[in-house]
Amino acid sequence: MALVFDDAAGPGSRQERGAPQYDSRMPTIYAQRRARLAAQLGEGGIALVPTAPERLRNRDSGHLYRHDSYFYYLSGFAEPNAWLVLTGDGRSVLFCQPKDAEREIWDGIRLGPEAAPTALGVDEAHPVDELDQRLPALLENKTTVWYPFATHAGLEGRLDGWLQKVRARVRYGALAPGAQRDLCGPLDEMRLVKDAHELDIMRRAARISAGAHVRAMQCCARMIRAGEDVREYHLDAELLHEFRQHGSQAPAYGSIVAAGANACVLHYRADAAPIRDGELVLIDAGCELDGYASDITRTFPANGKFSGPQRALYELVLASQQAAIDATKPGARFTDPHEATVKVLTQGLLDLGLLDRQRHGTLDDAIADRAYFAYYMHRTGHWLGMDVHDCGSYVEPSEVGQVSERRDPLSDELIRDRPSRILRPGMVLTIEPGLYVRPSEGVPKEFWNIGIRIEDDAVVTEGGCELISRGVPVAVDEIEALMR
Ligand code: GLY
Ligand code: MN
Ligand code: MN
Repeated sequence: MALVFDDAAGPGSRQERGAPQYDSRMPTIYAQRRARLAAQLGEGGIALVPTAPERLRNRDSGHLYRHDSYFYYLSGFAEPNAWLVLTGDGRSVLFCQPKDAEREIWDGIRLGPEAAPTALGVDEAHPVDELDQRLPALLENKTTVWYPFATHAGLEGRLDGWLQKVRARVRYGALAPGAQRDLCGPLDEMRLVKDAHELDIMRRAARISAGAHVRAMQCCARMIRAGEDVREYHLDAELLHEFRQHGSQAPAYGSIVAAGANACVLHYRADAAPIRDGELVLIDAGCELDGYASDITRTFPANGKFSGPQRALYELVLASQQAAIDATKPGARFTDPHEATVKVLTQGLLDLGLLDRQRHGTLDDAIADRAYFAYYMHRTGHWLGMDVHDCGSYVEPSEVGQVSERRDPLSDELIRDRPSRILRPGMVLTIEPGLYVRPSEGVPKEFWNIGIRIEDDAVVTEGGCELISRGVPVAVDEIEALMR
Protein backbone atom coordinates (compact mmCIF):
# COMPACT_ATOMS: atom_id res chain seq x y z
CA MET A 1 0.00 0.00 0.00
CA ALA A 2 1.44 3.36 -0.98
CA LEU A 3 1.65 6.34 1.30
CA VAL A 4 0.67 9.59 -0.36
CA PHE A 5 2.05 12.74 1.18
CA ASP A 6 0.36 16.08 1.02
CA ASP A 7 3.05 18.22 -0.61
CA ALA A 8 2.15 21.36 1.29
CA ALA A 9 2.31 19.64 4.62
CA GLY A 10 5.27 17.39 3.93
CA PRO A 11 6.13 14.03 5.40
CA GLY A 12 5.71 13.68 9.12
CA SER A 13 2.90 16.19 9.39
CA ARG A 14 -0.61 15.34 10.57
CA GLN A 15 -1.88 15.92 7.05
CA GLU A 16 -0.29 12.80 5.62
CA ARG A 17 -3.03 10.86 3.93
CA GLY A 18 -4.16 7.38 4.86
CA ALA A 19 -3.36 7.91 8.52
CA PRO A 20 -3.51 8.25 11.45
CA GLN A 21 -6.22 5.71 12.09
CA TYR A 22 -8.24 7.03 14.97
CA ASP A 23 -11.48 8.88 15.43
CA SER A 24 -10.24 12.32 16.46
CA ARG A 25 -13.69 13.88 16.19
CA MET A 26 -15.12 12.74 19.45
CA PRO A 27 -12.56 11.47 21.97
CA THR A 28 -15.04 12.28 24.75
CA ILE A 29 -17.51 9.68 23.43
CA TYR A 30 -14.90 6.98 23.94
CA ALA A 31 -13.86 8.38 27.33
CA GLN A 32 -17.49 8.30 28.46
CA ARG A 33 -17.82 4.68 27.35
CA ARG A 34 -14.64 3.76 29.21
CA ALA A 35 -15.96 5.48 32.33
CA ARG A 36 -19.28 3.62 32.09
CA LEU A 37 -17.47 0.33 31.73
CA ALA A 38 -14.97 1.11 34.52
CA ALA A 39 -17.88 1.72 36.88
CA GLN A 40 -18.97 -1.89 36.30
CA LEU A 41 -15.57 -3.48 36.91
CA GLY A 42 -15.68 -3.13 40.68
CA GLU A 43 -13.06 -1.46 42.85
CA GLY A 44 -10.39 -4.12 42.32
CA GLY A 45 -11.34 -4.80 38.72
CA ILE A 46 -9.08 -4.55 35.70
CA ALA A 47 -10.11 -5.08 32.07
CA LEU A 48 -7.89 -6.21 29.19
CA VAL A 49 -9.10 -5.49 25.67
CA PRO A 50 -6.88 -6.46 22.73
CA THR A 51 -7.67 -5.39 19.21
CA ALA A 52 -7.87 -7.90 16.35
CA PRO A 53 -4.71 -9.54 15.02
CA GLU A 54 -3.51 -8.91 11.49
CA ARG A 55 -4.01 -11.95 9.27
CA LEU A 56 -1.72 -13.03 6.48
CA ARG A 57 -3.38 -14.02 3.23
CA ASN A 58 -0.26 -15.61 1.83
CA ARG A 59 3.46 -14.90 2.15
CA ASP A 60 3.74 -11.23 3.13
CA SER A 61 0.33 -10.12 1.82
CA GLY A 62 -2.29 -9.53 4.46
CA HIS A 63 -6.09 -9.61 4.51
CA LEU A 64 -7.70 -6.20 4.72
CA TYR A 65 -7.27 -5.24 8.36
CA ARG A 66 -10.38 -4.83 10.52
CA HIS A 67 -10.03 -3.73 14.14
CA ASP A 68 -11.78 -5.54 17.00
CA SER A 69 -15.21 -4.05 17.62
CA TYR A 70 -14.99 -4.02 21.45
CA PHE A 71 -11.60 -2.36 21.30
CA TYR A 72 -12.76 0.28 18.83
CA TYR A 73 -15.93 0.92 20.82
CA LEU A 74 -13.79 1.92 23.80
CA SER A 75 -10.96 3.71 22.00
CA GLY A 76 -11.90 4.92 18.51
CA PHE A 77 -8.48 3.55 17.54
CA ALA A 78 -8.20 1.42 14.39
CA GLU A 79 -4.49 0.52 14.29
CA PRO A 80 -3.50 -3.13 14.71
CA ASN A 81 -1.25 -4.36 17.55
CA ALA A 82 -2.90 -2.51 20.37
CA TRP A 83 -4.37 -3.26 23.79
CA LEU A 84 -6.47 -1.21 26.12
CA VAL A 85 -6.25 -1.72 29.87
CA LEU A 86 -8.93 -0.19 32.09
CA THR A 87 -9.12 -0.25 35.86
CA GLY A 88 -12.08 0.08 38.18
CA ASP A 89 -10.87 3.48 39.34
CA GLY A 90 -11.40 4.78 35.79
CA ARG A 91 -7.78 4.83 34.58
CA SER A 92 -7.01 3.84 31.01
CA VAL A 93 -3.71 2.64 29.59
CA LEU A 94 -3.16 2.07 25.88
CA PHE A 95 -0.46 -0.14 24.41
CA CYS A 96 0.15 0.67 20.75
CA GLN A 97 2.71 0.39 17.98
CA PRO A 98 5.69 2.65 18.57
CA LYS A 99 6.67 5.20 15.95
CA ASP A 100 8.98 3.50 13.44
CA ALA A 101 10.18 5.46 10.42
CA GLU A 102 10.90 2.38 8.33
CA ARG A 103 7.67 0.49 9.08
CA GLU A 104 5.64 3.65 8.54
CA ILE A 105 7.05 3.92 4.99
CA TRP A 106 5.57 0.48 4.25
CA ASP A 107 2.44 0.28 6.38
CA GLY A 108 1.32 3.83 7.07
CA ILE A 109 1.63 6.43 9.76
CA ARG A 110 1.30 5.25 13.34
CA LEU A 111 -0.17 7.36 16.09
CA GLY A 112 2.47 6.25 18.59
CA PRO A 113 2.35 6.27 22.40
CA GLU A 114 3.55 9.85 22.75
CA ALA A 115 0.60 11.31 20.84
CA ALA A 116 -2.00 8.79 22.04
CA PRO A 117 -3.06 10.41 25.35
CA THR A 118 -3.95 13.69 23.67
CA ALA A 119 -5.46 12.12 20.56
CA LEU A 120 -7.50 9.43 22.33
CA GLY A 121 -7.96 10.81 25.83
CA VAL A 122 -6.32 7.82 27.53
CA ASP A 123 -4.38 8.43 30.73
CA GLU A 124 -1.18 6.67 29.63
CA ALA A 125 0.20 5.00 26.54
CA HIS A 126 3.19 2.69 26.05
CA PRO A 127 4.77 0.78 23.18
CA VAL A 128 3.01 -2.56 22.72
CA ASP A 129 6.30 -4.44 23.05
CA GLU A 130 6.29 -3.40 26.73
CA LEU A 131 3.05 -5.30 27.35
CA ASP A 132 4.68 -8.38 28.94
CA GLN A 133 6.87 -6.24 31.12
CA ARG A 134 4.12 -3.86 32.34
CA LEU A 135 1.07 -6.09 32.66
CA PRO A 136 2.14 -7.97 35.82
CA ALA A 137 2.50 -4.65 37.66
CA LEU A 138 -0.91 -3.50 36.44
CA LEU A 139 -2.50 -6.80 37.55
CA GLU A 140 -0.83 -6.77 40.97
CA ASN A 141 -3.23 -6.16 43.89
CA LYS A 142 -6.28 -6.32 41.64
CA THR A 143 -9.04 -8.75 42.57
CA THR A 144 -10.78 -9.50 39.27
CA VAL A 145 -9.46 -9.66 35.71
CA TRP A 146 -12.05 -8.99 33.01
CA TYR A 147 -11.42 -9.87 29.38
CA PRO A 148 -13.58 -11.01 26.45
CA PHE A 149 -13.79 -14.79 26.90
CA ALA A 150 -13.12 -17.09 23.94
CA THR A 151 -12.61 -14.34 21.39
CA HIS A 152 -8.84 -13.89 21.08
CA ALA A 153 -6.74 -17.00 20.49
CA GLY A 154 -3.82 -17.10 22.91
CA LEU A 155 -5.10 -14.39 25.25
CA GLU A 156 -5.70 -16.80 28.14
CA GLY A 157 -2.18 -18.19 27.81
CA ARG A 158 -0.63 -14.74 27.91
CA LEU A 159 -2.73 -13.79 30.90
CA ASP A 160 -1.57 -16.97 32.69
CA GLY A 161 2.03 -15.89 32.09
CA TRP A 162 1.39 -12.44 33.57
CA LEU A 163 -0.45 -13.93 36.56
CA GLN A 164 2.45 -16.28 37.22
CA LYS A 165 4.72 -13.26 37.46
CA VAL A 166 2.36 -11.62 39.94
CA ARG A 167 2.27 -14.81 42.01
CA ALA A 168 6.04 -14.93 42.05
CA ARG A 169 5.93 -11.69 44.00
CA VAL A 170 3.46 -12.91 46.63
CA ARG A 171 6.23 -13.21 49.21
CA TYR A 172 6.90 -9.50 48.70
CA GLY A 173 3.30 -8.71 49.57
CA ALA A 174 1.76 -8.77 46.12
CA LEU A 175 -1.82 -9.98 45.76
CA ALA A 176 -2.83 -11.82 42.61
CA PRO A 177 -6.36 -11.50 41.17
CA GLY A 178 -8.52 -14.40 42.34
CA ALA A 179 -11.32 -14.11 39.77
CA GLN A 180 -11.70 -13.84 36.04
CA ARG A 181 -14.88 -12.53 34.42
CA ASP A 182 -16.18 -12.26 30.89
CA LEU A 183 -15.98 -8.66 29.69
CA CYS A 184 -18.39 -9.47 26.85
CA GLY A 185 -21.26 -9.37 29.37
CA PRO A 186 -21.14 -5.65 30.26
CA LEU A 187 -19.80 -4.59 26.85
CA ASP A 188 -22.53 -6.43 24.93
CA GLU A 189 -25.17 -4.70 27.02
CA MET A 190 -23.58 -1.31 26.35
CA ARG A 191 -23.25 -1.91 22.62
CA LEU A 192 -26.81 -3.19 22.31
CA VAL A 193 -28.31 0.26 22.90
CA LYS A 194 -26.77 2.69 20.42
CA ASP A 195 -25.98 6.29 21.34
CA ALA A 196 -26.59 9.31 19.09
CA HIS A 197 -23.04 9.19 17.69
CA GLU A 198 -23.52 5.56 16.64
CA LEU A 199 -26.99 6.13 15.19
CA ASP A 200 -25.69 9.00 13.12
CA ILE A 201 -23.05 6.75 11.53
CA MET A 202 -25.51 3.90 11.06
CA ARG A 203 -28.00 6.15 9.28
CA ARG A 204 -25.25 7.31 6.93
CA ALA A 205 -24.08 3.74 6.31
CA ALA A 206 -27.64 2.64 5.49
CA ARG A 207 -28.08 5.59 3.15
CA ILE A 208 -24.95 4.66 1.21
CA SER A 209 -26.03 1.02 0.98
CA ALA A 210 -29.51 1.98 -0.19
CA GLY A 211 -27.93 4.07 -2.95
CA ALA A 212 -25.81 1.08 -3.93
CA HIS A 213 -28.89 -1.14 -4.28
CA VAL A 214 -30.58 1.49 -6.45
CA ARG A 215 -27.49 1.67 -8.62
CA ALA A 216 -27.28 -2.12 -9.02
CA MET A 217 -30.98 -2.40 -9.91
CA GLN A 218 -30.76 0.29 -12.53
CA CYS A 219 -27.57 -1.14 -13.99
CA CYS A 220 -29.21 -4.57 -14.25
CA ALA A 221 -32.27 -3.30 -16.12
CA ARG A 222 -30.11 -1.17 -18.43
CA MET A 223 -27.84 -4.09 -19.36
CA ILE A 224 -30.73 -6.53 -19.87
CA ARG A 225 -32.49 -4.02 -22.13
CA ALA A 226 -29.30 -3.50 -24.10
CA GLY A 227 -29.07 -7.27 -24.60
CA GLU A 228 -25.75 -7.45 -22.78
CA ASP A 229 -24.39 -10.49 -20.96
CA VAL A 230 -25.16 -9.54 -17.34
CA ARG A 231 -23.36 -11.47 -14.63
CA GLU A 232 -23.73 -11.40 -10.88
CA TYR A 233 -20.29 -9.82 -10.61
CA HIS A 234 -21.40 -6.85 -12.71
CA LEU A 235 -23.90 -5.90 -10.03
CA ASP A 236 -21.39 -6.65 -7.27
CA ALA A 237 -19.06 -4.14 -8.92
CA GLU A 238 -21.80 -1.50 -8.89
CA LEU A 239 -22.36 -2.05 -5.17
CA LEU A 240 -18.69 -1.79 -4.37
CA HIS A 241 -18.32 1.33 -6.50
CA GLU A 242 -21.11 3.10 -4.64
CA PHE A 243 -19.80 2.01 -1.22
CA ARG A 244 -16.29 3.30 -1.84
CA GLN A 245 -17.47 6.38 -3.72
CA HIS A 246 -19.15 7.52 -0.51
CA GLY A 247 -16.31 6.79 1.87
CA SER A 248 -17.27 3.35 3.13
CA GLN A 249 -14.15 1.37 4.03
CA ALA A 250 -15.47 -2.03 2.90
CA PRO A 251 -18.56 -4.20 2.58
CA ALA A 252 -19.81 -5.15 6.05
CA TYR A 253 -20.01 -8.82 4.93
CA GLY A 254 -19.62 -10.81 1.72
CA SER A 255 -22.19 -9.37 -0.68
CA ILE A 256 -24.82 -11.79 -1.97
CA VAL A 257 -25.83 -11.22 -5.58
CA ALA A 258 -27.92 -14.22 -6.53
CA ALA A 259 -29.55 -14.71 -9.92
CA GLY A 260 -32.66 -16.88 -10.22
CA ALA A 261 -32.39 -20.19 -8.35
CA ASN A 262 -29.18 -19.05 -6.62
CA ALA A 263 -31.38 -16.90 -4.37
CA CYS A 264 -32.53 -20.11 -2.68
CA VAL A 265 -28.97 -20.65 -1.37
CA LEU A 266 -29.03 -18.57 1.79
CA HIS A 267 -25.30 -17.91 2.00
CA TYR A 268 -24.67 -17.61 -1.72
CA ARG A 269 -21.97 -15.05 -2.66
CA ALA A 270 -21.77 -12.77 -5.65
CA ASP A 271 -20.37 -15.06 -8.32
CA ALA A 272 -20.32 -15.34 -12.11
CA ALA A 273 -23.76 -16.74 -12.96
CA PRO A 274 -25.60 -15.06 -15.83
CA ILE A 275 -28.62 -12.94 -14.92
CA ARG A 276 -31.40 -13.75 -17.36
CA ASP A 277 -34.38 -11.82 -18.59
CA GLY A 278 -37.38 -12.99 -16.61
CA GLU A 279 -35.46 -14.04 -13.49
CA LEU A 280 -35.43 -12.41 -10.11
CA VAL A 281 -32.18 -11.13 -8.60
CA LEU A 282 -31.63 -11.15 -4.85
CA ILE A 283 -29.00 -8.74 -3.51
CA ASP A 284 -28.07 -8.80 0.17
CA ALA A 285 -25.33 -6.22 0.64
CA GLY A 286 -24.41 -3.44 3.02
CA CYS A 287 -21.40 -1.27 3.55
CA GLU A 288 -19.37 -0.74 6.67
CA LEU A 289 -18.85 2.92 7.48
CA ASP A 290 -16.51 4.08 10.24
CA GLY A 291 -16.84 0.76 12.04
CA TYR A 292 -20.62 0.30 11.67
CA ALA A 293 -22.50 -2.15 9.45
CA SER A 294 -25.58 -1.81 7.34
CA ASP A 295 -27.47 -4.81 5.98
CA ILE A 296 -30.02 -4.50 3.18
CA THR A 297 -31.68 -7.08 0.93
CA ARG A 298 -33.76 -6.35 -2.12
CA THR A 299 -35.21 -8.78 -4.65
CA PHE A 300 -36.14 -7.43 -8.05
CA PRO A 301 -36.95 -8.62 -11.57
CA ALA A 302 -33.84 -8.53 -13.78
CA ASN A 303 -35.80 -6.92 -16.60
CA GLY A 304 -37.65 -4.48 -14.34
CA LYS A 305 -41.08 -6.16 -14.41
CA PHE A 306 -42.37 -8.82 -11.99
CA SER A 307 -44.13 -11.84 -13.48
CA GLY A 308 -47.42 -12.97 -11.88
CA PRO A 309 -45.98 -15.70 -9.61
CA GLN A 310 -42.95 -13.57 -8.72
CA ARG A 311 -45.24 -10.73 -7.79
CA ALA A 312 -47.56 -12.95 -5.72
CA LEU A 313 -44.67 -14.25 -3.59
CA TYR A 314 -43.02 -10.83 -3.40
CA GLU A 315 -46.20 -9.14 -2.18
CA LEU A 316 -46.56 -11.87 0.44
CA VAL A 317 -43.01 -11.36 1.77
CA LEU A 318 -43.56 -7.60 1.75
CA ALA A 319 -46.81 -7.92 3.72
CA SER A 320 -45.04 -10.14 6.24
CA GLN A 321 -42.29 -7.57 6.56
CA GLN A 322 -44.85 -4.83 7.23
CA ALA A 323 -46.39 -6.97 9.96
CA ALA A 324 -42.92 -7.33 11.50
CA ILE A 325 -42.27 -3.59 11.24
CA ASP A 326 -45.57 -2.89 13.02
CA ALA A 327 -44.50 -5.28 15.78
CA THR A 328 -41.13 -3.54 16.28
CA LYS A 329 -41.63 -1.06 19.10
CA PRO A 330 -40.46 -0.46 22.64
CA GLY A 331 -41.89 -2.92 25.11
CA ALA A 332 -42.35 -5.61 22.45
CA ARG A 333 -40.23 -8.76 22.57
CA PHE A 334 -37.45 -9.42 20.06
CA THR A 335 -39.41 -12.46 18.84
CA ASP A 336 -42.64 -10.51 18.19
CA PRO A 337 -41.65 -9.37 14.68
CA HIS A 338 -40.70 -12.96 13.82
CA GLU A 339 -44.02 -14.28 15.05
CA ALA A 340 -45.89 -11.60 13.10
CA THR A 341 -43.94 -12.54 9.97
CA VAL A 342 -44.60 -16.25 10.36
CA LYS A 343 -48.32 -15.68 10.73
CA VAL A 344 -48.59 -13.66 7.50
CA LEU A 345 -46.28 -15.94 5.54
CA THR A 346 -48.02 -19.13 6.64
CA GLN A 347 -51.46 -17.76 5.77
CA GLY A 348 -50.15 -16.72 2.36
CA LEU A 349 -48.53 -20.11 1.74
CA LEU A 350 -51.85 -21.81 2.49
CA ASP A 351 -53.71 -19.37 0.23
CA LEU A 352 -51.28 -19.81 -2.67
CA GLY A 353 -51.30 -23.60 -2.41
CA LEU A 354 -47.66 -23.89 -1.35
CA LEU A 355 -48.93 -25.48 1.84
CA ASP A 356 -51.68 -28.05 1.52
CA ARG A 357 -54.66 -27.36 3.77
CA GLN A 358 -55.58 -31.07 3.75
CA ARG A 359 -52.19 -31.94 5.13
CA HIS A 360 -51.45 -28.94 7.34
CA GLY A 361 -54.91 -28.00 8.61
CA THR A 362 -55.62 -24.54 9.98
CA LEU A 363 -53.26 -21.58 10.17
CA ASP A 364 -52.62 -22.32 13.85
CA ASP A 365 -51.86 -25.97 13.11
CA ALA A 366 -49.44 -25.03 10.32
CA ILE A 367 -47.64 -22.56 12.59
CA ALA A 368 -47.49 -25.02 15.50
CA ASP A 369 -46.04 -27.69 13.18
CA ARG A 370 -43.63 -25.15 11.65
CA ALA A 371 -44.93 -26.14 8.20
CA TYR A 372 -43.62 -22.82 6.80
CA PHE A 373 -40.05 -23.96 7.59
CA ALA A 374 -39.75 -25.66 4.17
CA TYR A 375 -39.87 -22.17 2.62
CA TYR A 376 -38.77 -19.90 5.47
CA MET A 377 -35.90 -21.35 7.47
CA HIS A 378 -34.25 -18.34 9.09
CA ARG A 379 -35.15 -15.81 11.74
CA THR A 380 -36.71 -12.46 10.88
CA GLY A 381 -33.87 -10.40 12.25
CA HIS A 382 -30.75 -9.91 14.29
CA TRP A 383 -29.06 -7.08 16.15
CA LEU A 384 -27.09 -4.74 13.92
CA GLY A 385 -24.26 -2.45 14.94
CA MET A 386 -20.49 -2.57 14.71
CA ASP A 387 -20.86 -6.18 13.60
CA VAL A 388 -23.47 -7.22 11.06
CA HIS A 389 -24.70 -9.89 13.45
CA ASP A 390 -24.10 -7.63 16.39
CA CYS A 391 -23.56 -8.60 20.00
CA GLY A 392 -26.26 -8.47 22.65
CA SER A 393 -28.29 -11.11 24.42
CA TYR A 394 -31.54 -12.15 22.78
CA VAL A 395 -32.86 -13.11 26.22
CA GLU A 396 -34.24 -10.53 28.65
CA PRO A 397 -31.51 -10.46 31.33
CA SER A 398 -33.81 -10.11 34.33
CA GLU A 399 -35.86 -13.11 33.19
CA VAL A 400 -33.07 -15.47 32.21
CA GLY A 401 -34.10 -17.99 34.89
CA GLN A 402 -37.65 -18.41 33.57
CA VAL A 403 -37.20 -21.53 31.48
CA SER A 404 -39.83 -23.59 29.72
CA GLU A 405 -39.04 -26.73 27.78
CA ARG A 406 -40.57 -28.13 24.62
CA ARG A 407 -39.74 -30.39 21.70
CA ASP A 408 -39.17 -29.00 18.23
CA PRO A 409 -42.01 -30.37 16.06
CA LEU A 410 -39.67 -31.05 13.12
CA SER A 411 -36.41 -32.27 14.69
CA ASP A 412 -37.70 -33.37 18.12
CA GLU A 413 -34.75 -31.46 19.60
CA LEU A 414 -35.26 -30.30 23.20
CA ILE A 415 -35.62 -26.51 23.22
CA ARG A 416 -35.31 -24.39 26.35
CA ASP A 417 -37.23 -21.17 25.84
CA ARG A 418 -36.29 -18.17 27.91
CA PRO A 419 -38.20 -14.88 27.73
CA SER A 420 -37.11 -12.96 24.65
CA ARG A 421 -35.46 -9.56 24.91
CA ILE A 422 -37.70 -6.56 25.48
CA LEU A 423 -37.04 -3.92 22.81
CA ARG A 424 -35.90 -0.48 23.97
CA PRO A 425 -35.26 2.77 22.09
CA GLY A 426 -31.77 2.79 20.60
CA MET A 427 -31.63 -0.92 19.82
CA VAL A 428 -31.05 -1.60 16.12
CA LEU A 429 -32.22 -4.75 14.38
CA THR A 430 -32.84 -6.04 10.90
CA ILE A 431 -36.27 -7.07 9.65
CA GLU A 432 -35.73 -9.60 6.90
CA PRO A 433 -38.43 -12.10 6.03
CA GLY A 434 -38.05 -14.30 2.97
CA LEU A 435 -39.40 -17.24 1.02
CA TYR A 436 -37.27 -19.77 -0.82
CA VAL A 437 -39.02 -22.28 -3.08
CA ARG A 438 -36.97 -25.22 -4.27
CA PRO A 439 -38.35 -27.56 -6.92
CA SER A 440 -40.32 -30.25 -5.17
CA GLU A 441 -43.25 -32.52 -5.84
CA GLY A 442 -46.53 -31.03 -4.70
CA VAL A 443 -45.23 -27.46 -4.99
CA PRO A 444 -46.90 -25.47 -7.80
CA LYS A 445 -44.34 -25.32 -10.62
CA GLU A 446 -44.74 -21.61 -11.31
CA PHE A 447 -43.07 -20.88 -7.96
CA TRP A 448 -40.07 -23.18 -8.39
CA ASN A 449 -36.65 -21.59 -7.91
CA ILE A 450 -38.01 -18.29 -6.69
CA GLY A 451 -36.07 -16.92 -3.73
CA ILE A 452 -37.15 -13.63 -2.17
CA ARG A 453 -35.90 -11.71 0.84
CA ILE A 454 -36.62 -8.13 1.81
CA GLU A 455 -34.38 -6.73 4.52
CA ASP A 456 -34.39 -3.34 6.22
CA ASP A 457 -32.57 -1.88 9.20
CA ALA A 458 -34.74 -0.59 12.03
CA VAL A 459 -33.88 1.65 14.98
CA VAL A 460 -36.29 1.18 17.88
CA THR A 461 -37.67 4.63 18.77
CA GLU A 462 -39.96 5.93 21.55
CA GLY A 463 -43.02 5.42 19.36
CA GLY A 464 -42.15 2.40 17.22
CA CYS A 465 -39.25 2.06 14.86
CA GLU A 466 -37.43 4.08 12.23
CA LEU A 467 -36.39 2.30 9.02
CA ILE A 468 -33.02 3.76 8.09
CA SER A 469 -32.57 1.76 4.88
CA ARG A 470 -35.57 2.86 2.85
CA GLY A 471 -33.48 4.99 0.50
CA VAL A 472 -34.10 2.03 -1.81
CA PRO A 473 -37.77 1.27 -2.45
CA VAL A 474 -39.56 -1.98 -1.65
CA ALA A 475 -43.02 -1.54 -3.18
CA VAL A 476 -43.55 -3.43 -6.45
CA ASP A 477 -44.60 -0.38 -8.46
CA GLU A 478 -41.74 1.72 -7.03
CA ILE A 479 -39.16 -0.91 -7.96
CA GLU A 480 -40.63 -1.21 -11.45
CA ALA A 481 -40.63 2.58 -11.83
CA LEU A 482 -37.00 2.80 -10.64
CA MET A 483 -35.91 0.23 -13.20
CA ARG A 484 -37.77 1.69 -16.14
N1 GLY B 1 -26.32 -10.40 5.40
C1 GLY B 1 -26.40 -11.20 6.53
C2 GLY B 1 -27.76 -11.24 7.06
O1 GLY B 1 -28.67 -10.76 6.42
O2 GLY B 1 -27.97 -11.67 8.14
MN1 MN C 1 -28.46 -9.26 4.93
MN1 MN D 1 -29.34 -9.49 8.07
